[in-house]
Amino acid sequence: ENGMHAPHQEWDHRAWNKTFDHQSIRRGYQVYREVCAACHSMDLISWRNLVGVSHTEAEVKEMAAEYEYEDGPNDQGEMFKRPGKLSDRFPAAYPNEEAARAANGGAYPPDLSCIVKARHGEEDYIFSLLLGYTEPPPGISIREGLHFNRYFPGGAISMARALYDEVVDYEDGTPNNASQLAKDVTTFLTWASYPEHDERKKMGMKSIAIMGMLFGLSIWYKRFKWSPIK
Ligand code: HEM
Repeated sequence: ENGMHAPHQEWDHRAWNKTFDHQSIRRGYQVYREVCAACHSMDLISWRNLVGVSHTEAEVKEMAAEYEYEDGPNDQGEMFKRPGKLSDRFPAAYPNEEAARAANGGAYPPDLSCIVKARHGEEDYIFSLLLGYTEPPPGISIREGLHFNRYFPGGAISMARALYDEVVDYEDGTPNNASQLAKDVTTFLTWASYPEHDERKKMGMKSIAIMGMLFGLSIWYKRFKWSPIK
């Protein structure tokens, strides 16, 4: 059985001429880091991907350096630990899938690098899923360890509700109610799935401008050529 159809939200980035809301990507990264990253990896994202998107290079260098990475072998053939740098991928939530399942009652928290692309309903689904936890409808009982969510296909999900009002403190004064947190983390995850989105729209705008000029030129040229005949 399918979950409920996620209602459409008015995403800034869905407008034909709008790029991502980069302040929202920045806040959404914070939500991912402070809440979701406890269980979900984003293996395809490197620290440097955030530079110029949500953070400055100096900020990202500092963020990466807070994590330890295994490197090596060095000249003595030894592995060693060093602070993270821009070229490192985001750290994994668990060492491997077995550890991830063991910590989540047998369920596997999927990697979130491409999750918006991977799910039907895309960002509308992710947003609704994060807020879609309710009591099960009368007559439906949910197995121990599962949670009712009306947007999850089947209705019973292993992930407990993660976002509540004020679980993350924003530095920019944006209200931190649960739906704002859900909006921001979903915008961040949409950027992760579609990092080329802004570039694509800017190219589109340029091509519309150039095509427009060429069209204008062709009208003028046609009139010019035909003027002796009139
Ligand atoms: C599944 C997002 C926090 C554990 C999922 C799915 C998404 C998601 C999109 C896939 C649902 C589907 O298959 O359609 C998030 C986000 C979080 C978050 C954005 C932070 C706001 C957490 C946390 C935990 C967790 C903190 C662990 C305590 C899981 C598990 C699943 C899952 C076990 C698999 C559920 C199942 O297949 O039944 N999450 N999650 N998640 N998440 Fe999270």
